[in-house]
Amino acid sequence: MKTSILLFFITLFLSGCSSNTPGTTHTGAVASAHPMATQAGIDILKQGGNAFDAAIATAAVLAVVEPYSAGMGGGGFWLLHDAEQQKDIFVDAREKAPLKAHRDMYLNKKGNVIPKLSIDGPMAAAIPGQAAAFAHLAEKYGNLSLQQSLKAAIHAAQNGFAVDHHYQKLAGYRLKALRQYPAAAQTFLDEKQNIPKLGYIIKQTQLARTLESLADKGFDGFYKGDVAKTLVNSVQKAGGIWQMEDLQKYKIIERAPIISQYQGFTFTSAPPPSSGGIAIAQMLSMLESQLDINDWKTLEEVDQIHLLSEVMRRAYFDRAHYLGDPDFIDVPVKQLLDKKYNATFASSIDMSKATSSASLGTERQIMEGFHTTHLSVLDNQGNRVSATLSINLPFGSAYLAEGTGVLLNNEMDDFSSKPGVPNAYGLVGNEANAIAPEKRPLSSMTPSFIDSENQTAILGTPGGSRIISMVFLGTLEHLQNKPVTDWVNRPRFHHQYLPDVIQHEPNTFSDEVKKALEKKGHVLKDVRRQYGNMQAILVNKKTGQVSASSDERAVGEAQVQ
Ligand code: DON
Repeated sequence: MKTSILLFFITLFLSGCSSNTPGTTHTGAVASAHPMATQAGIDILKQGGNAFDAAIATAAVLAVVEPYSAGMGGGGFWLLHDAEQQKDIFVDAREKAPLKAHRDMYLNKKGNVIPKLSIDGPMAAAIPGQAAAFAHLAEKYGNLSLQQSLKAAIHAAQNGFAVDHHYQKLAGYRLKALRQYPAAAQTFLDEKQNIPKLGYIIKQTQLARTLESLADKGFDGFYKGDVAKTLVNSVQKAGGIWQMEDLQKYKIIERAPIISQYQGFTFTSAPPPSSGGIAIAQMLSMLESQLDINDWKTLEEVDQIHLLSEVMRRAYFDRAHYLGDPDFIDVPVKQLLDKKYNATFASSIDMSKATSSASLGTERQIMEGFHTTHLSVLDNQGNRVSATLSINLPFGSAYLAEGTGVLLNNEMDDFSSKPGVPNAYGLVGNEANAIAPEKRPLSSMTPSFIDSENQTAILGTPGGSRIISMVFLGTLEHLQNKPVTDWVNRPRFHHQYLPDVIQHEPNTFSDEVKKALEKKGHVLKDVRRQYGNMQAILVNKKTGQVSASSDERAVGEAQVQ
């Protein structure tokens, strides 16, 4: 099902409700990348679960029906709003490098990167955080037990889900890798090891058992005992380096979100080890130093694109230089968020011509991936969740740990395999993001909230390094008061400092705009496909009106309760 938008005028249906207190919402909503996952979240809200329970249910079903994007073998970031405490909390459930990982683990004796080692198979997998996030959220924030919130996922794993065209496309990207690993091929391909036909039913009984163990025993049901032993044995048997201690030691971390103010809006988002919150705060800050959002429309289209590309270029430059896991390196957060710092950086923007990225300083690069998922959830108390979850590339490492049904991530590829030298994808990282035991790889995932006097927005998307520019463009749509469908469906473009090009979806720019941008010195690159899969919710705190939307580029669904 394509995007569905449902608008509910709550005043019509809550006749007994006396007032709409700002900060309070009166209905729930779920937007996710798959209709079965959205339905599971809505059902949990109806059963008395709060937004946190619903987010667990939604994410758990996604872990079953979107094996290509996120799951029990992966991790992610959860931005929560606790309505009772009036507090925003960031739950970092990012994967961690195994204890036996080391800086040069993907290099051969000559010091060259070994192709695919950080991409396919168990050596590519970092220690998953997803199960720990479920246990933590249920215990600390939920109303319901994990047994209740994981029920739909267990059912979906046992009874199966039908292959759709999106599944086929992503299985196609990773067909070769999936065929290398018998358990993965058996589960995710058909009997002849081909991409399954539309409607083919994929059942995952081992995954159902792993989810049951988590539902019954919480954290220990995944990170200790039989599931953990089977995971470690399976990884070691295939040459991986996980140990029981890695799993036992995994911990999620609650961190303070990045909060920045922009012309009456409060933008709340992911802190390091994500780069997203800081990068968007910088982009907004640079933009603010250049013009008032109310004057935005006075700019010609080509100047709008030019200005946005220039602020993206500069924020991604800083991303490449300063960001990594804050538990391992000092990230200069205060400086990067400083308005004066950003205004000075933006003062080099010349509206008549493109800045060359090389002129900004040392050449560095940032990472990019191909699949992941996002979900946005709201309940009738005003609790909210914006969560971006990942196993990195489609189908992660393509290694399914036998006996557990857990498909392992290849998030180790988000580290720089060799600082300064391109990795297997032709991307270059830097020292701040070098591999170390127990370190979290730098991420672009940017689950966000935007608050203003009358409205609250919940948004996020997958899309590797382009996540940040997509959330930025979505945010700007909201700042201009456009409807939620416009944020998720707008044509996209992206500048990430290096390569020094404006990447764009097909049909984003007219020929005239293309020519004008080229005249300013920009190099344009049509990426020849649509990207991203944004899920968003908008609440009007005054009227209680809620709208939600799922990106038309994929198969997700948004529902308002
Ligand atoms: O954490 C990151 O930045 C990446 N692992 C996310 C990958 C991703 O979004 C791929 N999506 N299309």
